[in-house]
Amino acid sequence: MKYAVKDINLAPQGRNNIALAEADMQALMEVRKEFEKTRPFKGERIGMALHVTKETAVLVRTFIAGGAEVAITGCNPISTQDDVAAALAAEGVSVYAHKGETQKEYYEFLNKILDFKPTITIDDGCDLVTELHTKRKELLGTVKLGMEETTTGIIRLHAMQKEGVLQCPVIAVNDNLTKHLMDNYYGTGQSTLDGILRATNTMLAGKTIVVAGYGSCGKGVALRAKGMGAKVIVTEVNPFRALQAHMDGCQVMKMDQAASLGDLFITVTGDIHVITRAHAEKMKDNAIICNSGHFDVEIDLKSIRAAYGEGKELRPFLKQFNINGKKINILADGRLVNLASAEGHPSMVMSLSFCGQALGAQWGLQNKPKPGVHVLPPEIDEKISRLQLKAFGVEMDALTPEQQKYLTSWQEGT
Ligand SMILES: NC(=O)c1ccc[n+]([C@@H]2O[C@H](COP(=O)([O-])OP(=O)(O)OC[C@H]3O[C@@H](n4cnc5c(N)ncnc54)[C@H](O)[C@@H]3O)[C@@H](O)[C@H]2O)c1
Repeated sequence: MKYAVKDINLAPQGRNNIALAEADMQALMEVRKEFEKTRPFKGERIGMALHVTKETAVLVRTFIAGGAEVAITGCNPISTQDDVAAALAAEGVSVYAHKGETQKEYYEFLNKILDFKPTITIDDGCDLVTELHTKRKELLGTVKLGMEETTTGIIRLHAMQKEGVLQCPVIAVNDNLTKHLMDNYYGTGQSTLDGILRATNTMLAGKTIVVAGYGSCGKGVALRAKGMGAKVIVTEVNPFRALQAHMDGCQVMKMDQAASLGDLFITVTGDIHVITRAHAEKMKDNAIICNSGHFDVEIDLKSIRAAYGEGKELRPFLKQFNINGKKINILADGRLVNLASAEGHPSMVMSLSFCGQALGAQWGLQNKPKPGVHVLPPEIDEKISRLQLKAFGVEMDALTPEQQKYLTSWQEGT
């Protein structure tokens, strides 16, 4: 069997959802049209570990249109959309993913992707490349190129490069402007709140929301929460980001102080143990804690569980812990709340990220970069921006020859 999905009969619903995504991913659909003509991935085997969502399905179909064979698994045990996985499997794609995988299944599925002997890997969080470099080294010679989607994955890749162990070229798609300043900012901003609302239906207006981390994701979350009437506190460890948060009108303080003030806590740092058991013990009755950073380590759930038990599941994705008589609600077991209890980012913004994956993989095959982490040239960001501006029906100015000359010369002053 070429697939392991929850229920293949969910395929019709998955197809409907993919059709909805395609309608809102015009830029990527334009890239697909180009690939249908040029077939840049003919003969390539693309192994993906990405969230299996309707938007990712549009990317899968785009690579197939470009001539590739594709095998896909998830990059998080609870983010798979089972209907989408079924639809892809029914189309003949090798899919190994279901929502609620065990840790064991998660790694078995990653290895299924490696068994497929990919020539290109596409990761979101670097688990596939890590598995390749630790347990499946024999396949290193087959992989021409890796692609990485998210900040956390790129941190890991830079650490591998620094230690001299990274043996293939990997493109940091997250570093595209059309990725981290769009997907991380607008996408995480909206979908994190969407996940919290679907899990709790809590009112945001009037609440005090603590956002840990004021990077691309944190800014998006904080500023959108503010727009919905919340008072926002930011915690940071980077002085410039803390200054930015202060000047954007957020209160900035230590988590130790914020713990007793917040109604809702959102971590988006990519760091470990940002909310500890001691913080949870200081929180108000009925406080809500969740995470939208890549891994489930930002909230120290292990220590909270060790002291206060497993918590009671009051509804899907909401567990309530009795912490010294106070009810503390933790969403999605500390995993990405936007992908666990909602559907991840809206299709339009994922179109920009995935244009980066598609055009980046094409660039990588053509330019054959050396082993190491690589950033794409600015022309790719420009192309993606132009495609999306066209989809929005937006026209912009172009430099006149006089302006072009002025902006590249130094003689003319006051
Ligand atoms: N939910 C999603 O769908 C989604 C989308 C994109 C990225 N991500 C993930 O979200 C995380 C953040 O991504 P980003 O692009 O915003 O990264 P970033 O590097 O731009 O920002 C992270 C910020 O967190 C701060 N930080 C680190 N440790 C901290 C601590 N202990 N306390 C407070 N602040 C701390 C850093 O100083 C930095 O400003 C990553 O794990 C990334 O992979 C999630």
